[in-house]
Amino acid sequence: MKIKFEINGHPIEINENPKKKLSEYLKQNNYFSIKNGCNQGKCGSCTVLLNNNPVLSCLIPLAEIEQTQITTLEGFMKSDEYVDIEKAFKQKNINFCGYCNAGKIFITYKIIKHNPFITREEIKKEVSFLKCNCVELDSFANGIYLACAIRRNRIKDKLHAK
Ligand code: FES
Ligand code: FES
Repeated sequence: MKIKFEINGHPIEINENPKKKLSEYLKQNNYFSIKNGCNQGKCGSCTVLLNNNPVLSCLIPLAEIEQTQITTLEGFMKSDEYVDIEKAFKQKNINFCGYCNAGKIFITYKIIKHNPFITREEIKKEVSFLKCNCVELDSFANGIYLACAIRRNRIKDKLHAK
């Protein structure tokens, strides 16, 4: 089946089995941010943005991505929000092995975009589903909390500069 979509800003048409999962397609095409995770929607290591919202790509058949925009971590790294998140995680000394980077970064993106005044306790509830051996929940929540502040300030500065 022919499927048209955009990936990291580039239009593409592929001829694939519509039942194949998006995570499989991405791994086969060298999007290295997608890891070999649980394949059951339980670990977050296959997260991508679909029309700018985080989804677990191991649960999405290719048939469902027709005419959508997919962003992997590779594409997201060029965004201002990625820079905000990276800055916050560096300041809080949050280091990753890389296994669940995509899940961590995209859940942080969702929070800073949709709920920038969230409390640390609310953050912990929202991200507790991510299974990560590298970062404690408390320190991850602190990183997200700081990322919210950094993004708010960047937007405020931008508005004042106009
Ligand atoms: S590989 Fe998709 S959620 Fe674990
Ligand atoms: S970043 Fe290492 S397991 Fe999550």
